Amino acid sequence: MEYRGYDSAGVAVLDGTIQVRKKAGKIANLDALLAQSPLPDTGTAIGHTRWATHGGPTDSNAHPHVSSDGRVALIHNGIIENFAALRAELQAQGIEFSSETDTEVAAQLLGVELAKGADLADGMRTVCRRLAGAFTLVAIDALQPGRLVAARRNSPLVVGVGDGENFVASDVAAFIEFTRSAIELGQDQLVDVTAESITVTDFFGGPAETHPFEVTWDTSAAEKGGYDWFMRKEIYEQPKAVADTLLGRYTPEGALTLDELRIPEAELRSVDKIIIVACGTAYYAGLVAKYAIEHWTRVPCEVEIASEFRYRDPIISPTTLVVTISQSGETADTLMAIRHAREQKAKVIAICNTNGATIPRESDAVIYTHAGPEIGVASTKGFLTQVAACYLLGLYLAQVRGAMFDDEIHNVMNELAATPPLIQEVLDRIGQIREVAARFVDTRSVLFLGRHVGYPVALEGALKLKELAYLHAEGFPAGELKHGPIALVEDQLPIFVVVPPQGRDQLHDKVVSNIQEVRARGALTIVLAEEGDVEVEPYADILFSLPKVSTLLQPLVATVPLQMFACELATLKGFDVDQPRNLAKSVTVE
Ligand code: M6R
Repeated sequence: MEYRGYDSAGVAVLDGTIQVRKKAGKIANLDALLAQSPLPDTGTAIGHTRWATHGGPTDSNAHPHVSSDGRVALIHNGIIENFAALRAELQAQGIEFSSETDTEVAAQLLGVELAKGADLADGMRTVCRRLAGAFTLVAIDALQPGRLVAARRNSPLVVGVGDGENFVASDVAAFIEFTRSAIELGQDQLVDVTAESITVTDFFGGPAETHPFEVTWDTSAAEKGGYDWFMRKEIYEQPKAVADTLLGRYTPEGALTLDELRIPEAELRSVDKIIIVACGTAYYAGLVAKYAIEHWTRVPCEVEIASEFRYRDPIISPTTLVVTISQSGETADTLMAIRHAREQKAKVIAICNTNGATIPRESDAVIYTHAGPEIGVASTKGFLTQVAACYLLGLYLAQVRGAMFDDEIHNVMNELAATPPLIQEVLDRIGQIREVAARFVDTRSVLFLGRHVGYPVALEGALKLKELAYLHAEGFPAGELKHGPIALVEDQLPIFVVVPPQGRDQLHDKVVSNIQEVRARGALTIVLAEEGDVEVEPYADILFSLPKVSTLLQPLVATVPLQMFACELATLKGFDVDQPRNLAKSVTVE
């Protein structure tokens, strides 16, 4: 099983007893350990690569985790949200833990069940019923050779059906070399596997419906999970990526917790200015965040392009909170901005996707986005998860400062938590965007309009098109067009318009008027508007319906079709979508 990363790795085999080798760092470190200390060839083995969440990337935190009686070895993807209570319960029974992970709780719980005489599958079902959060678990029992059990909730698990051998994995890529026959497990299901048998049940031992399928792509495409581009794969990963950003941040008592935010609350209460600093797509995420953060915290929030920041002698004091956003965590412009801010005694919070990168290391605190590795040079899930993480930070500041009532925070958190399936809804209709791209494949220029949070979405849509399809593309605030850029509008010019949800203010109607202004000058309008927005329909040459969300959350659904438009257009033009010309994934020079 693999997670988002590669900060440690480990394997366990069953050979009379359980034997484990695990090592922090890249898989090469584990390889070296195995060369020094080889494992026997056995028929039953589990392996895992880790991206640290609970506990740093150390040898002891690497998976597999073994129960204290040495009987169970277990690997885990996801986050067990109630691990602290379970850990305390197990410690009260005298069980000693050897790692800081949430995962070890599951290994120890299973050990306890087996010690009571439970069968491996029954024991695992009992454990699963006690866990909250997201997990894929795979376990082996020293006393039951040739058998493993795996279970899933909110985290993927597939079974590979071989000939005299079977597999379980987080993704078919792990076993495609050996078999293309696979079974996808449903929510809250457990699979009991031997070389000859595969039995799937629900968490109560009842029968379960499974979904067998044949994998149609080969090993070379495996890394991309069958997609032609990493970018496309990453666009499709966005519902899960946003869910992972939000996972475990909200306690059942209604308190927001940001584990990696280590700045005393008193200091956060004294903040009188927030400056968000970032580059490219991350900067646009910051522009979106400004609207929410100011609205929720009532603290003035500036957003600054990192490469401009320190050269203008910005006004920074110890009560300034600098928030840096970086997917890679290695962007030199952003790093230099952090160093400058800290020299001026500001506190710096990094929002970052890469565990242990330089930017989080040099910041006072970090909120990880947990989006998983982003390989395509064009940032996609990076953007959505950065927006989600900024919103968490805004709500957290509002909570600490008493700027919002608990029920208000609760309502926004509920809305945020409801967005992943809505993003999926957008993806389910994305075929329409393919047709739009085919229609405009020969266009030389595209404009993007938006207002309020729709404006940075327009900027992001234009950036995607520039970097992937090498087209002239510009994003504008829709109301600003009449002050000059409307001169660019000519017959048949495609213009994307992000229409705000129909709300109490006049924002929606103003944008509808802006659409009419450009149509009157011959533009072809591709309108992104919420379902049921009949007012805008007559002015849309092409209408793409977005799920209903509140204005501040609209970027999480409205950006997706724009990402896909750029991906499709570049594909149709025969360009390399994952590695566009002149660009690099991490820009480590100023
Ligand atoms: O790794 P970072 O988030 O710091 O990168 C910032 C920009 O270089 C990055 O977002 C860039 O604009 C992307 N290629 C946009 O798709």
